[in-house]
Amino acid sequence: MAQSSPAVSGKTHELRCIECGHAAEKPGQTFRCESCGDLLEIVYPGWKTDQGLRPSGLNVASLKALWRTRRKSLAPIDQSGVWRFRELLPEFPDQRQVITLHEGNTPLYELPSCARIAGIEHLLAKHQGMNPTGSFKDTGMTVAASVARREEFRWVGCASTGNTSASMAAYAARGGMRSLVLVPEGKIAWGKLSQALDYGAVTCQLKTDFDGCLRVLNKVVQRMPVYLLNSVNPFRIEGQKTTAIELLEQLDWQVPDHVIVPGGNLGNSSAIGKAFLELKELGFVETLPKLSIIQAEGANALVRTVRETGGNKLIAVQAETAASAIRIGSPASWKKAVRVLRETGGTVEQVSEAEIALAKAEIGAEGIGCEPASAVTLAGLKKLVKSGFVKPRESVVLILTGHLLKDPDYTIRFHRGEMFADAQEQKIVAAQQRAPIVLEPNADAVIATLKQADER
Ligand code: F0G
Repeated sequence: MAQSSPAVSGKTHELRCIECGHAAEKPGQTFRCESCGDLLEIVYPGWKTDQGLRPSGLNVASLKALWRTRRKSLAPIDQSGVWRFRELLPEFPDQRQVITLHEGNTPLYELPSCARIAGIEHLLAKHQGMNPTGSFKDTGMTVAASVARREEFRWVGCASTGNTSASMAAYAARGGMRSLVLVPEGKIAWGKLSQALDYGAVTCQLKTDFDGCLRVLNKVVQRMPVYLLNSVNPFRIEGQKTTAIELLEQLDWQVPDHVIVPGGNLGNSSAIGKAFLELKELGFVETLPKLSIIQAEGANALVRTVRETGGNKLIAVQAETAASAIRIGSPASWKKAVRVLRETGGTVEQVSEAEIALAKAEIGAEGIGCEPASAVTLAGLKKLVKSGFVKPRESVVLILTGHLLKDPDYTIRFHRGEMFADAQEQKIVAAQQRAPIVLEPNADAVIATLKQADER
């Protein structure tokens, strides 16, 4: 039996435009405000009434206890690290309709060696790559795909740099729906393409970039009954909020000083920020972490938007980076991300290709590993420590978004020294390169190699 919630009333959600506040009774196919065209978000008017959570400290404590208890429950919905926190998500009265792969419940790791490298005392990483399909996307997909099924869509669709496509295809398959994937041709990691294919998606490689794929998909969903599962879908954002809730639970509700997130289309940073703001509003915590967003230099639309316009006008860029997950030039959720930066006091930073590759190998050398887009967090942290934004004694959590095995090509090219032609870049990364060694099949050769390695 799933564990029911203590008296939480007035929880019903509403969809509202982030720009003009217009309430959307029923979102259109593109999840845009019908009045001004901006993005929608989910709000919970009931939280602000006398019957809601807010006035009663008691409810907060009992919810914290309930969420812990659910970890021991055998019900699939309780075993999900997303639905375990369902009191802070849109209501889903018929729980049999929920599509879950037991997402969430991801580990929080210490990174002592990376902390030393970055120049701080204590560093943690929450590894969202340990989700069922290998990325954080599963936490949002379980919610939004369940909504698609409840609304009786036969088809779901997304544009993707890889992870969204794998996640959507898996959840669609589990929920008995068909899925349409649009990916930029030649620009996503094979590991991800292979997942979408195996999970049964109709996979189209378009001769454009991610931004172009999203434009095409927006047209498709206006002409066909395909449910859009990109992060402009506000139900995705609600599911992804649980990363922050679970993180605080793992820290026994002690708020870290900084949380650092990679930025692509900017749904994830918006979701994590939204969760922190809501948790503070509801009285789960009294302070906020500073949430900072890191981008690749070649895909730095948010960094430029913040630095050149104070966050007031999007500066889109032609994106180019080997961290293919964040090769995005015109991030859809930029306004939501700017709001999170402002309200939490976080900042933005950009990092070079060599800095990303080096940081990825440093995280790998701790026995953890992640995909290139996730490693921008450590690369960015190093810069934030140097600039004094992060102080050596402050607590920092990196959000690692994707699994090391997403992009083995990148990793192999890095270690073989095939990634950087430029001598300066090669110098930056050399210390972390560990190329495989081809030997004659005898013990002497292996022992000689072992001894050599031992001296290093
Ligand atoms: N890290 C990874 C591993 C990602 O796959 C993505 C986005 C991001 C970070 C950036 O997150 O877009 O919410 O700011 N991947 C998308 C995809 C776009 O299609 O898989 P964001």
